Amino acid sequence: MRLIVPQINTGAYAARLLKKRLKDSKKFVLGLPTGGTAVDMYSAFREEYSKGNLSFKNVVTFNMDEYFGLPASHPQSYISFMKRHLFDHVDIKPENINIPDGNAKDIEKECFAYEEKIKNAGGIDLFFGGVGENGHIAFNEPFSSLQSQTHKVFLTQCTIKANSRFFNSEEETPKTAITVGVGTIMSAREVVILATGFKKAEAVRAALEGAVSSKWVISALQLHKKAVIVADSAACANLEPATFEYFKNLKDEYSELENIN
Ligand code: GLP
Repeated sequence: MRLIVPQINTGAYAARLLKKRLKDSKKFVLGLPTGGTAVDMYSAFREEYSKGNLSFKNVVTFNMDEYFGLPASHPQSYISFMKRHLFDHVDIKPENINIPDGNAKDIEKECFAYEEKIKNAGGIDLFFGGVGENGHIAFNEPFSSLQSQTHKVFLTQCTIKANSRFFNSEEETPKTAITVGVGTIMSAREVVILATGFKKAEAVRAALEGAVSSKWVISALQLHKKAVIVADSAACANLEPATFEYFKNLKDEYSELENIN
């Protein structure tokens, strides 16, 4: 796993990476997250789009997750979030947008169909994600199977509490969701996780310095061929200085992106 601590905002860095990956690609399958960390990333995508530097016309998207039972029209549903922050502002074709249906009558069928859709699209080229304070990726909570596929989950108290900031109260916050599995994320050709702020410091430490363990689901990415954590310095606060130094001095295509706009 690679760590990059860019001088620029993590969202702006993600936009540069996406620009690079989309250059010359005829069709690109992009996995997308929601959450507070992703807000800056989508703002950077919109900015690049408005400058004519980024186009989504050949992009097929698959979102990571969706709350279960929350009406799609609810402002905090993930489809509403995606429309607000990205889809309504760029040239993506509506038929290329995929997000799990949290109101599907047959959830198992919906989960299976979502995996099939990803396979039929040729798999995910690049999965952007965030990380929960407890190390969850998408909504795969601690002790999830590290080979799981799209499934329904019961959210932990830690996640419900963290997400309650988007709702009027903890009671109103959804307790269940549909999420792509850890296995789904691991099957993507590249995985880029954004982490910002001190609250993510323990998850980032476990991701990079801990053993691979379902207790910290994000640590599964140590087994991925091309997984990167893009973090700000606050999110790196719990790393050993040697870990931080090692990655800071690494020169590769990810470090080059800091200088290429
Ligand atoms: C949410 C989402 C995740 C997201 C994570 C971090 O619960 N389901 O996909 O990555 O938690 O969210 P935030 O960026 O708001 O901290």
